[in-house]
Amino acid sequence: MNEQAWEKIDSLIDKNQNTTLREMFAKDPGRAARYSLEAAGWFLDYSKNRIDDEMMRALFALAESSGLKAEIEKMFTGEKINETEGRAVLHTALRNVEPDAKVFVDGRDVMPGVRSVLAAMGDFAGKVRSGEWKGWTGKRIRNIVNIGIGGSDLGPVMANIALTPYSQRDLRFFFVSNVDSTHLAETLREVAADETLFIIASKTFTTQETMSNAEAAREWLIGQLGAKEAVARHFVAVSTAAEEVAAFGIDVANMFGFWDWVGGRYSLPSAIGLSLMISIGKENYAKLLAGYHAMDVHFRTAPFERNMPVIMALLGILYANGYGAETYCCLPYDQYLSRFPAYLQQMDMESNGKCVDKSGRRVTYSTGPIEWGEPGTNGQHSFYQLIHQGTHLIPCDFIGCSRTHNPIGDLHDKLMANLFAQTEALAFGKTAEECRAEGVPEALVPFKTFEGNKPTNTLLADELTPYTLGSLVALYEHKVFTQGVIWNVYSYDQWGVQLGKVLAKGVLSDLTAKEPSARHDASTNQLIARYRKAVGRQ
Ligand code: F6P
Repeated sequence: MNEQAWEKIDSLIDKNQNTTLREMFAKDPGRAARYSLEAAGWFLDYSKNRIDDEMMRALFALAESSGLKAEIEKMFTGEKINETEGRAVLHTALRNVEPDAKVFVDGRDVMPGVRSVLAAMGDFAGKVRSGEWKGWTGKRIRNIVNIGIGGSDLGPVMANIALTPYSQRDLRFFFVSNVDSTHLAETLREVAADETLFIIASKTFTTQETMSNAEAAREWLIGQLGAKEAVARHFVAVSTAAEEVAAFGIDVANMFGFWDWVGGRYSLPSAIGLSLMISIGKENYAKLLAGYHAMDVHFRTAPFERNMPVIMALLGILYANGYGAETYCCLPYDQYLSRFPAYLQQMDMESNGKCVDKSGRRVTYSTGPIEWGEPGTNGQHSFYQLIHQGTHLIPCDFIGCSRTHNPIGDLHDKLMANLFAQTEALAFGKTAEECRAEGVPEALVPFKTFEGNKPTNTLLADELTPYTLGSLVALYEHKVFTQGVIWNVYSYDQWGVQLGKVLAKGVLSDLTAKEPSARHDASTNQLIARYRKAVGRQ
């Protein structure tokens, strides 16, 4: 990271260290309006951050010094910025809804392929929704089981829950990811084979968890329906790997493709979103893509000073690198966004959880934060105590919608009141004097005092719709991209996941081999021996 830019930021942190948010708001009535902006259906209020105009200028200078503008162009124009895998990073092409758009990779326009897969998905989704697509026994499909993991699961799960109000309610959706057989077994208990469609979602079609579950589901279906031929009516694939799909026994006519320039954790708007399209229909899916695209255009064209993903990225970097904050919390006040924090975890932590920079040298600063969160108000009765009065600085994003899909009495007013009140309490706290003025006994004053000065962003949409969900996801994708550029790490590979996968294969053969082996370390050998004994393989 640029040292000069950081000298300025650090000097401003020192200068402002005794100035609280309370004081900043008191002396600047225009602060809330000045540190707010709108983009693609979302309103961001970032005024409850430890910033002033000088700090923002210093942060923008950091972004400029990292070459961010040029990096954004490289991504959108298909340069191979995922250098360690030799790939372009073009999830933005998947949702480029402009009819004449052209995006080139290796001299070839990828847009005709994108449009043709979307059309095929729309056609298939329409048939399942209408009942035209029949199972092997002639019954219509009632259950859709998506089998996938990581990016081939978290996005579809998150979005299917988020867009429940737009779903076709006579279809039921299930998501099996874990190689723990319980996940598949409990799902299969819920469905009748002759009314069930399995979507095998895997970019590589080699992922152990997905392929093991897919094979088990195929055996189950054949067993239930008594015919191998039934597989063609009950299994479709979403993948980049046609050969592997065919080898599994799925007709490639029932495969929906995507490309190596779509990272797993960025693949929701690719064919990986097939289950979502079946749920909400192709018209709503098009609105989701339009929302993504609106945020893409905003990110690519807005000056940094009015650029929502850039501002959120810079604030995150201020706390991670300027204040040493190690974690970051996402708090959606919307039950439909209950899986959004889990989805963000993969997007952010698999992207920027890197300790070497682009030249292969160990970084001397911290990179991607530990990301976590739960929907409000549930989290308030669980971990907020630590955010308010603990010893860690935890910047939070609060996300809410002004209108609910489910108005019941004044519940929504109460939900939103809690959201706003939390950001107020975190920013302004409660002083010892205020406690005393309320009559708090002196002995209790230290315990009832809230330091405040805790930074938050608040994101508000009028309503959670396909459009605002798409733009929300794109907002965070571009925030993560921006941070990766400034930290100078490769955000689009995930080599760190590989070692565990390789070792698991070796351990598996030791768990199942006839003869025990002792080729691991003492601890792992002991665990393997204990397991073998318990399952009768001494
Ligand atoms: O967890 C590693 C990972 O490669 C993710 O990046 C990816 O989303 C997931 O595995 C699933 O991969 P695939 O879609 O190829 O099955």
